Amino acid sequence: MNIFVDAKTTDDARRKELYKGAVFVHSPSPFALKLCELAKEMIEETFYPLDPLMLHETMAVEHCVEKLSVLKPRFIHDPKSKEYIQGMLREAGCDLEKTYFDVPRLRTAFPGDYLTSGIAYSFHPHRDTWYSAPLCQINWWMPVYPLDSQNCMAFHPYYWDHPLKNGSRDYNYQKWNQQSRYNASQHIKADTRVQPKPEEAVQMEPQVRLVCEVGGPFLFSAAHLHSTVPNTSPLIRYSIDFRTVHLDDALNRVGAPNIDSACTGTTMNDYLRGTDFKHLPAEVTKMYDDGELVQPS
Ligand SMILES: [Fe+2]
Repeated sequence: MNIFVDAKTTDDARRKELYKGAVFVHSPSPFALKLCELAKEMIEETFYPLDPLMLHETMAVEHCVEKLSVLKPRFIHDPKSKEYIQGMLREAGCDLEKTYFDVPRLRTAFPGDYLTSGIAYSFHPHRDTWYSAPLCQINWWMPVYPLDSQNCMAFHPYYWDHPLKNGSRDYNYQKWNQQSRYNASQHIKADTRVQPKPEEAVQMEPQVRLVCEVGGPFLFSAAHLHSTVPNTSPLIRYSIDFRTVHLDDALNRVGAPNIDSACTGTTMNDYLRGTDFKHLPAEVTKMYDDGELVQPS
């Protein structure tokens, strides 16, 4: 697994490497910092006067879930979020005419077992391509507050080219949206929503944890196996992630290899053009919406 730090490459060259399993780490950039600052302001306003990193010490979990279920959509849908991602993509050398992104998510990982389901789902090892993401999807991830190796996310690079038996065959993104997505906040103690999970023991080692800076995102292919690191730090982790897709790669079906995904449906309709936030052309979405998007080869 190659890790590029502040690589001076074009976006075309970067995507080629990403589709081979590389990860790119960027130093903080002005718009990435603005996006983190926006999240921080909203978090601190939501939980005022409490310390937002220590809620598990002082707040009843049900109350915390209530607050998160207002905070998270508010961040996702704030027009400034889109504007700042646009800036981030420009700073990272992406062609905004051809780069499409989805709205950013704000994630939380709580220490211990305070809250690990529903609105603060602690992700088991998975590939986003098990969840109907196209093989050309690139994930961007960065923390809102300083990160450490005990509260970040992990890659499991062995599985880049080793298949893992999983439940993706039963997953369809369109069906998930209709049935499960909107009731995340009801799952406080346990998450009963059907998600594609490994169906055999996962070798969690070797694993790579990138401890990056606030506003310093790393980029990786949606086909990488990754998971939430169980938070053994004393602090809550807040992070932002979003995804991008390049029009040419979508049209030409260029992307990471598919070694074990069998889901149907597609997330293609979620991405918005970097210039004007228009959706991908309908014919592109249709190419991927035939239920045959990710058949294992
Ligand atoms: Fe993921």
